[in-house]
Amino acid sequence: MATNWTPESWKQDSFTAKHLPQYEDQAELADVEASLAGYPPLVFAGEARKLKSRLGDVANGEAFLLQGGDCAESFKEFSPNNIRDTFRVILQMAAVLTFASKMPVVKVGRMAGQFAKPRSSATETKGDVTLPSYFGDNVNGIEFDPAIRRNDPQRMLRAYSQAAATLNLLRAFAGGGYANLRQVHRWTLDFMGRSPWSEQYQSIAQRIGESLDFMEACGVDIEDQPQLKTAHFYTSHEALLLPYEQAMTRQDSLTGEWYDTSAHMLWIGDRTRFVDSAHVEFLRGVNNPIGVKCGPSLTPDALIEMLDILNPAREAGRITLIARFGHTKVEEGLPPLVRAVEREGHPVVWSCDPMHGNVIKSDSGLKTRPFERILAEVKGFFAVHRAEGTHAGGIHVEMTGQDVTECTGGAVAITDQGLTDRYRTHCDPRLNAAQSLELAFLLAEMLNLELTEQQQDAA
Ligand code: PEP
Ligand code: CO
Repeated sequence: MATNWTPESWKQDSFTAKHLPQYEDQAELADVEASLAGYPPLVFAGEARKLKSRLGDVANGEAFLLQGGDCAESFKEFSPNNIRDTFRVILQMAAVLTFASKMPVVKVGRMAGQFAKPRSSATETKGDVTLPSYFGDNVNGIEFDPAIRRNDPQRMLRAYSQAAATLNLLRAFAGGGYANLRQVHRWTLDFMGRSPWSEQYQSIAQRIGESLDFMEACGVDIEDQPQLKTAHFYTSHEALLLPYEQAMTRQDSLTGEWYDTSAHMLWIGDRTRFVDSAHVEFLRGVNNPIGVKCGPSLTPDALIEMLDILNPAREAGRITLIARFGHTKVEEGLPPLVRAVEREGHPVVWSCDPMHGNVIKSDSGLKTRPFERILAEVKGFFAVHRAEGTHAGGIHVEMTGQDVTECTGGAVAITDQGLTDRYRTHCDPRLNAAQSLELAFLLAEMLNLELTEQQQDAA
């Protein structure tokens, strides 16, 4: 167990806590924390261990990680249809990836708890009014109004309830028939008909159906096969709001180890991943699988120092490094990190976040991410791993099952002018369902290339 660590050791003066909200009423905050600490865990230690072991397979080059969901979940967009539609696009992407790569795909949602957002500026000014920035629905509200922008601890309780209800539905979808491979045709959303990729998807779905028919004809009872009938689906979010994460942290009765039970996997954002960060201190002591965002400002030495702190036992599956360089920087910035990690023998999953380094302001004034830049970063990421002989292990995307117009481009081309049609995100622009599926096909192609090269090397 981590030495000198407690669930609140991150509060010590020797650590720097960035992007944490200031609450006016400390007694109210303490009340909320006490309530949360008495609530049931959202996930169980055994589930987090299971995910860690599956991520260990990814670290060993035997599986692929697919992590996706909203940039920020919101109280306003909370609805069963939104949860279902994001879940089904993730299933579709996983079907494409598994079918093409013949590798297991580990599915992790940025869902059921992804509320808190780090912001580049603590305040926002409109005209001559300055208010606190929006830090996510579990901290304050997005509307530019002094009462709504106040940091309100009660919001953590609402976030907990929404996460619990979201997780409940996801568990039902994953285990209750919806994720049955026999349903593979039905995961297509109506509006996807316009994308040429949906035709490609239908052809894969057809072939999966034929394989199942063949297996049944051979006497395999599909209904008896949990691997075909159900999906393993895990949740994750950025562990930014430490008072919430601390309150959700419990000691596992089986092992005595600490787990943050707010999600299976937690990650540290690019702005809070530095040596002596309060966030690194907090996550060092919980045994969940941990992600670390790696952007252009991260030096190889700082990365290795953090890996030594976060994974002293060098457990495979414990750490996922999520590279988010931007399409012009990935091929130069990533290799020094990959080499340092290889040199030090740290087992990690390398995942690609092609979203956060590729944000631009469109002519309409809205933040967007051109789809071709997202694809370019993914290609660059795979090229680096091919050259270094390491496994391009995963993808981390901001996406939704809704038919939004937030990222430009894609096969059903969204133009700059078209962005305003259905721009609904609470924070960063997300891929819509058609763009997500298109990305899955490109990833499948890249993974195939990696596998072919490995086979050629082995021959
Ligand atoms: C995010 O994933 O929503 C995010 C803020 O990313 P990053 O920390 O990489 O900027
Ligand atoms: Co984001």
